Amino acid sequence: MTEPHPAPQQDPVIAALIDLHCGLDRQGPGDTGFSQQILAQLPPLPPNPQIADLGCGSGVSAVLLADWFKTTVRAVDFSRDFLAEAAQRAERLGLQDRIHWIEADFGALDWPLGELDLLWSEGAAYNLTFAGALAAWKPLLKPGGLAVISELSWCTEDIPIPAQAYWQQAYPAMASEADNIQTAISQGLEVLGVERLPAEAWWTNYYHPLQAKIQSLGHSPDPVMQSVIQETQAEIALFEQYSDAYGYSAYLLRRL
Ligand SMILES: C[S@@+](CC[C@H](N)C(=O)[O-])C[C@H]1O[C@@H](n2cnc3c(N)ncnc32)[C@H](O)[C@@H]1O
Repeated sequence: MTEPHPAPQQDPVIAALIDLHCGLDRQGPGDTGFSQQILAQLPPLPPNPQIADLGCGSGVSAVLLADWFKTTVRAVDFSRDFLAEAAQRAERLGLQDRIHWIEADFGALDWPLGELDLLWSEGAAYNLTFAGALAAWKPLLKPGGLAVISELSWCTEDIPIPAQAYWQQAYPAMASEADNIQTAISQGLEVLGVERLPAEAWWTNYYHPLQAKIQSLGHSPDPVMQSVIQETQAEIALFEQYSDAYGYSAYLLRRL
């Protein structure tokens, strides 16, 4: 097992983010129906496919993949707390034997190269940047292997200034769908499609439960948690106003 560098539990901001997101169904925007639509349009995988979910969080997509393909899935996250929740989820669904939970840094996986038939990652690639994630993960795919990676993306050329200013600080590498497509092509990946997550899915599946969790935490005495909550509330307020300008897009890719 690869050791995460550094262990996320040791970074106070990441530890507060993990605390804030523990107990939630999702740690980022996503939707099971949307994922199923993507799975339904993928080219068929070979028998006994090798599948990995990178940045699996509390496991919502790992269990979907295990159930959809009726096979074993490797699910990677560097948060032990999320992996514990994910394992409980799999247990509840009777899928515990189909998922191999791996506590590791997904930017430094020491797996054999060219092994995966499907690499799935929802809302996590930004930790390496989209280009960095493709560079790190493409070698793990077999030639012809598929990747489905969701990434925060601009979906207009006319980006409102407040949204631009916020994301310039929070995620300077954020790019447009068109630029991300070019990035994928330049790295030797075929783009099979790009699907944008509907804004309602952000609210129903992520922001509303997150707002409820913030309420339940009350006034945390921890200044790091206070600042993480403030930052989260600013992010939510921004999306409320500018969800036409950006969103999560799933990039359906194939290694050439
Ligand atoms: C926004 S959450 C998305 C989680 C889940 N895929 C979902 O959609 O609910 C990003 C996840 O990536 C994990 N993560 C971030 N950087 C990582 C790294 N370098 N290695 C492994 N996991 C990482 C976080 O712990 C978190 O669970």
